[in-house]
Amino acid sequence: MKIIVEKNAQLGGQVGAKVFKDALAQGATVFGLATGSTPMTTYDALVNSDVDFSQAISINLDEYVGLTPDNDQSYRYFMQKHLFDQKPFKHSYVPDGTNPDATKVINDYNHLIETHPIDLQILGIGHNGHIGFNEPGTPFDSLTHEVNLTPSTIEANARFFERKEDVPQKAYSMGIASIMGAKHILLEAYGTEKAHIIKEALQGPVTEDVPASVLQNHPNVTVILDEAAASELQNIH
Ligand code: GLP
Repeated sequence: MKIIVEKNAQLGGQVGAKVFKDALAQGATVFGLATGSTPMTTYDALVNSDVDFSQAISINLDEYVGLTPDNDQSYRYFMQKHLFDQKPFKHSYVPDGTNPDATKVINDYNHLIETHPIDLQILGIGHNGHIGFNEPGTPFDSLTHEVNLTPSTIEANARFFERKEDVPQKAYSMGIASIMGAKHILLEAYGTEKAHIIKEALQGPVTEDVPASVLQNHPNVTVILDEAAASELQNIH
C-alpha cells in the first residue's frame, strides 16, 4: 500500500488526477468511479487537464434507489455535472436507481463488471468505514447488492438534501469483492473527521466491521490523504 500525504485536498486531487492519467497512459480502459465530496478535487483536476476518456468506459460504485438521473441528488446527476459533461467516456455506467427490479439491476451490474474488469477504482470512505455503500458487516465476498443505508450514513448524506426525510433509505452498490477485483485501487480521504477511520482502516485489524480495512489485502492500493486525514497514522514515513 502506497500512502501519499499532501498538504490539502486540492493538492491531493492533482496527485489523484495524475494516477488516472498514468493509468490511461499504461493502457487502462475501465475506470471505477465514486461520488461524494472526496473525489471532487481529482475530478476538477481531470476536467482542467487534457485527459481524454473518449475511448474508455466508466463504472460507478453505487446509486440511490428511487432517484431519477435528472434528480440533482442522484449519483448519475453528480457524475454528469462534475465529470462526464466535460470529459465524456465512450460509455458511463451507474446502477439504474429507477429500476425497482433489484435482481435485474444486480445481475446486469455484476455481468458488466465481469465482462469489463476495472483497471483503476477510485474510492472515498464513509465515517463508519464504508466503501461504495458497503456498510459495516457487509461480507467481504459480496458482489453488487441492494443496501439498507444505516442511520449514520443517512445522517452524513443529509447535508446534500433539503430535508433529512428526502435521503433515500436504500441504494444499489457494487460489493466488496467487486471493488477488490479492480487491478489498482485509489483511496482518497481529506479532513480531520476522516482521521480516525483512516487509522482504523489502514492500520487496524482487517474486519468486516470496517469495510475499508479489506484494502490491506489488496496488492495494489494507492492512498492519498491530506495532513489532517493522515494525522492519526503511525510510522508512515
Ligand atoms: C457516500 C458514498 C461513498 C463515499 C462516502 C463518503 O456514502 N456512497 O462512495 O465515499 O459517501 O463521502 P464524502 O466523500 O462526501 O465524505
